Amino acid sequence: MKPVEDFLKNKLHGRQQSGTYRELKPENSLVDFCSNDYLGFARSAVLKQSIVNEVDTHPLSLNGAAGSRLLSGNIQYAEDLEKQIATYHDSEAGLLFNSGYDANLGLLSSLAQRGDTIILDELVHASIIDGARLSYANRYSFKHNDFDSLESKLKLAKGNCYVVIESVYSMDGDTPPLVEILSLTEKYNAALIVDEAHALGLYAKGLVCELGLQRRIFARVVTFGKALGGHGAIVLGSNNLRNYLINFARSFIYTTAAPFHQLAAIKMAYQLLENSREAIISLKRNIELFKQQVNTGENFTLLNSNSPIQCIVLNSNEMAREAAKQLQMNNFDVRSILSPTVAQGTERIRICLHSFNTENELTLLAVTLNKFILLHA
Ligand SMILES: Cc1ncc(COP(=O)(O)O)c(C=O)c1O
Repeated sequence: MKPVEDFLKNKLHGRQQSGTYRELKPENSLVDFCSNDYLGFARSAVLKQSIVNEVDTHPLSLNGAAGSRLLSGNIQYAEDLEKQIATYHDSEAGLLFNSGYDANLGLLSSLAQRGDTIILDELVHASIIDGARLSYANRYSFKHNDFDSLESKLKLAKGNCYVVIESVYSMDGDTPPLVEILSLTEKYNAALIVDEAHALGLYAKGLVCELGLQRRIFARVVTFGKALGGHGAIVLGSNNLRNYLINFARSFIYTTAAPFHQLAAIKMAYQLLENSREAIISLKRNIELFKQQVNTGENFTLLNSNSPIQCIVLNSNEMAREAAKQLQMNNFDVRSILSPTVAQGTERIRICLHSFNTENELTLLAVTLNKFILLHA
């Protein structure tokens, strides 16, 4: 055991030395500018009660699925839910996964075969990168949102080609030029996959539906752990794709199915989403309010984003860490994102806005931030 324990200690020591050591922290009572609970669903008493009611009206449901979907773990409720969600997003079919991570892993690793090509925007989420890595396909990444870079990789593609992007990027909060990227992938006969994890909530049905592109996109990944305040994900696409994933996606096949109460929570969250026009308007208003009030001066940059994810690039780990500390001391839960998670020189604080943040909270946050920026300019 000794060599292995030494290896662990050395690796952790390296993290501590470089200031990138990660540790779990208990919940806090600071004002939430950190979570993905964009519409307040995770904290909604109304949603909680409707989930309890839904579970109560299914007294025969099991506490746990007690098997994978392909063995004893499948229930009609899950299949009905898949159809409902697919219809909501105007998709032919959908397949539930236990998390967004599982969905991306299963989708990408099973689709692309040896000799095929996967092309990723350089800023896609780790679950997409891991899914691509698990396949035997050729892999390329293109410069973030850059057509020329994407086209140069499309020209290299062999076999079936899959291009994967996000509709709201989790670390920068920006949105790709979806129509143009789609047209480019169509020109090269590549299949476009869009991860909508952070777009749901800002757009009631995701950005793809907002732009009316659903019929032209090969697959979408929608997750339930962000604006829906729950857990799990669905891959949306054709019936063929659904059947393919049931047969080949290992993160779907070899895992216990989600328990009934998780499915009930997803179903109820979708019901609430259909009645969340006002929350979406509040979220959009708060995004505007925040952007109007923050002044990053000449040395720092507020990244261009119209989403709830707003990042101020502070150029170093030290500065990003210090800004987060100052904000936390002023009662705001804001976290720093350090290199190597983001590229060196682009270290930042990442502020997540919500429908439930008050105008007063937003103003105080902006004032505190502006003071910090002025002091360190
Ligand atoms: C773009 C994106 N896709 C997928 C995931 C993974 O989803 P989940 O948290 O449900 O595993 C995340 C989570 O942060 C994400 O940001």
